[in-house]
Amino acid sequence: MVLQQMANLEQTLARPGGGIAAEGAGDRSGLRPADFFSELDGSECQPTILILDDLDINRRLLRAMLKTAPYRVLEAKCVSDALKILEHDTVDLLILDLMMPEMSGLEFCQRIKSNRRTQLMPVLMLTSVQGIENEIAGISSGADEFLTKPLHPDVVRTRIRAMLRNKAAIDSLEEAETILFALAQAVEKRDKYTGDHCDRLAQFSVMLGAAMGLSRPQLVALHRGGYMHEIGKVCVPDAILFKKGPLTEEEWVVMRAHTTKGEEICRPMTTLAPVLPIIRNHHERWDGSGYPDGLKGEEIPLLARVLQMADIYDALTTARPQKPALSRQDTGQVFEDEVKRGWRDPELVALFLESLRKHEERAAADMAVHAENGDSRGVEEHFQNSLDNMRRQLLSGR
Ligand SMILES: [Fe+2]
Repeated sequence: MVLQQMANLEQTLARPGGGIAAEGAGDRSGLRPADFFSELDGSECQPTILILDDLDINRRLLRAMLKTAPYRVLEAKCVSDALKILEHDTVDLLILDLMMPEMSGLEFCQRIKSNRRTQLMPVLMLTSVQGIENEIAGISSGADEFLTKPLHPDVVRTRIRAMLRNKAAIDSLEEAETILFALAQAVEKRDKYTGDHCDRLAQFSVMLGAAMGLSRPQLVALHRGGYMHEIGKVCVPDAILFKKGPLTEEEWVVMRAHTTKGEEICRPMTTLAPVLPIIRNHHERWDGSGYPDGLKGEEIPLLARVLQMADIYDALTTARPQKPALSRQDTGQVFEDEVKRGWRDPELVALFLESLRKHEERAAADMAVHAENGDSRGVEEHFQNSLDNMRRQLLSGR
């Protein structure tokens, strides 16, 4: 029975059942989509600054100047290193030297500004060559600011602060993310069996995140990840998504690509940056046998591992055409079998099950107190209320 449940679970997590929200998802908790979408505007995140300069001494000097502010500073000594960082990381500001051996700063800046993904990243160009013509060339190449060496630390810091403020303002204008949310909901509504899956995922992810003591921005990212993680399924044809019976290997390739497609769709929204690892890596497995990157153990982004716990739990406790729902109490065995198979993070599984138990105990205690006053609500309703209240309080910062 357990093995059958596990086989079904694998199928279920990848198939439409693996994630989908209902009409009005979010209403039950009082958190409408717009509420939590305004939560993570990037202002609480540490801005990331990339310094591209071939000279070690220059990079060290700039790093020392930026030490007084809470920046995350990355360094690249050549254009190819910088491109690798820009491909995989979210950078809020680029400091660029005009003279570089591989490619001139002017050429690199033009490249950055002509790429849709990086065009809004502010660029501060530096040079030790005196002359107004350099400044004109720098600004013409797309640089937002231009400074000539020797650099005055206060001037550098002030310019950077102003540039980051502008960047934050631009980021907050990215209302296109609301459209992405609507798209994620539309994807979810394609499947009539999934009910308010995404809403539940958001809820149970936040429950586990809170038990782990994660920060509020991380909880907000988890909450948003619950709704957005399957958005890439918009690229999976109905014939595959709703196919009755097993998928062919070619169809699995298309199905698995929902992770990378989802990341591609959301990547232009810089405010969604904390959610991208959830979208991309929510099908990885602890032993490295998952997809799309085959990440192993703690290489799998933490928030993606947290969301997985909620995803598995929801797949088990929800009835689908191919399987009945398990009771909450019966899910523990399947979770433990998943750990034995090497697929799940054992510590997170233990914490998730313990957290469920605590909410159950609290619900039972609440029910007993309310029953004395003639309240007929059952333990399930109290359990749900307990989770709803916790989510509302955590995400509203109270
Ligand atoms: Fe998925």
